[in-house]
Amino acid sequence: MSPNEILEWFNQVSIDKTWSFEGCKPSDTGKWTHGYHRYPAKFIPQLVERLMDEYINNGTASVNDPFMGCGTTVVSAISRGFHASGTDINKVAHLVTGAKATAIRPDYLEKKVKQFLSQISCFEEELSFFPVSQVQPHIPEKHLERIDYWFAEAVRDGLGKILTLIRHENDLVVQSFFLVAFSHVLKTCSIWSQGSTKPTRDLKKRPTLPCDAIKRHLLKMLKGNSQFYDIVPACVKDKPNSFLNIQVGSAKVQPVRDDSVDLIVSSSPYVTSYEYADLHQLSTLWLDLADDLKEYRKEFIGTSYKQYEGKPLSSQIASDIVTEMLPKSRKKAKEIEAFFIDMQEVFDESFRILRPGGRCCYVIGNTRLKGVDILNAEAFAESLQESGFKLDRLIKREIPLKILPQKRDEKTGRFASKDKADSEAYPTEYIVIGLKE
Ligand SMILES: C[S@@+](CC[C@H](N)C(=O)[O-])C[C@H]1O[C@@H](n2cnc3c(N)ncnc32)[C@H](O)[C@@H]1O
Repeated sequence: MSPNEILEWFNQVSIDKTWSFEGCKPSDTGKWTHGYHRYPAKFIPQLVERLMDEYINNGTASVNDPFMGCGTTVVSAISRGFHASGTDINKVAHLVTGAKATAIRPDYLEKKVKQFLSQISCFEEELSFFPVSQVQPHIPEKHLERIDYWFAEAVRDGLGKILTLIRHENDLVVQSFFLVAFSHVLKTCSIWSQGSTKPTRDLKKRPTLPCDAIKRHLLKMLKGNSQFYDIVPACVKDKPNSFLNIQVGSAKVQPVRDDSVDLIVSSSPYVTSYEYADLHQLSTLWLDLADDLKEYRKEFIGTSYKQYEGKPLSSQIASDIVTEMLPKSRKKAKEIEAFFIDMQEVFDESFRILRPGGRCCYVIGNTRLKGVDILNAEAFAESLQESGFKLDRLIKREIPLKILPQKRDEKTGRFASKDKADSEAYPTEYIVIGLKE
């Protein structure tokens, strides 16, 4: 299709209400291990499950997500006994996906959690520990200053002691399970402003006590693991590693064989939307996942910290967006250009790993920035074609209002009124489906 035909195709498609999954309750979207960790712009599992229903017809299929995030695609694939692979540049995403995709024997895990909780029974007023008050808090020395920026001293020491106990856990699968709980509670235990998608402090906030927060969350995760354990096929439970191939790394170079994947279900980062490295910085600091946060975030696609000069942009639709943005903001135009160049390389990689007859499904919404329509979805469609895909299907779906990242103030990341907002997302998104013939 020519760029104009693609634009026309998008104009003609109407919303398919059956893809809104309107009746889904939080207990449905957060079922099994899906509720282990908050993650910005995560899928609902029902969307992945429906795509697998429609496109997979063999029991030994292989499913991939180059931007796996907290692992919704990977977990959904594992739940059906499919092989699952994925990458994410975010080390927190790798930790979370690994734990979510691993079903642990419930009676064994329950014993481990009980032992752990008995060790961290805490005196709430003092935030000291019994019977392990002598435990040395594990606080990464080189990040102390940043940690102190976000946490009160007593809370910091409480978290440090919890982390010491977690590090003493010899079973690494259980240790990861605990680390995910630890990572999840960091925001509520800090003075990170809850309603903001940017790292902003709320000096009036009353953080939750670490022991309370981790206890509550571990008990919730325990239930999720039991449900997941019940549905994961025995063959996966016996040999989890032969079904799961997840890596910290770039979506542009996945450790996956040529022509080996049946279905890709993914949602990329958005240009100039969430800064994932910044958003997960509390976990990154505490778990010591990056020496230099500034360098680390340059690897993220869609970040405002990276620009390319001189690399060609093959999509005409993307080039037109960049040209329209240039007079408004050269910096933003360059960020958008870098984003679409990166995505072209990701689509090339998707094409390489899919088997002939396989499909990739990219979930993406459009945005409006400084008065310019950023037609991500249309540009993705054109880029998929450039990579060799046949444009197979386009689904337009409504995003439930409660999860729509719309109208945000650029500086604070808080929700803003329409006239004050610098950027805006539409209440719909697309699933652009490419077929490798
Ligand atoms: C929209 S999120 C994916 C959410 C996922 N669908 C889920 O359900 O959790 C996009 C992800 O892309 C990741 N990402 C950004 N740049 C990347 C890169 N260069 N390679 C791989 N992943 C990257 C981000 O860390 C983020 O986790």
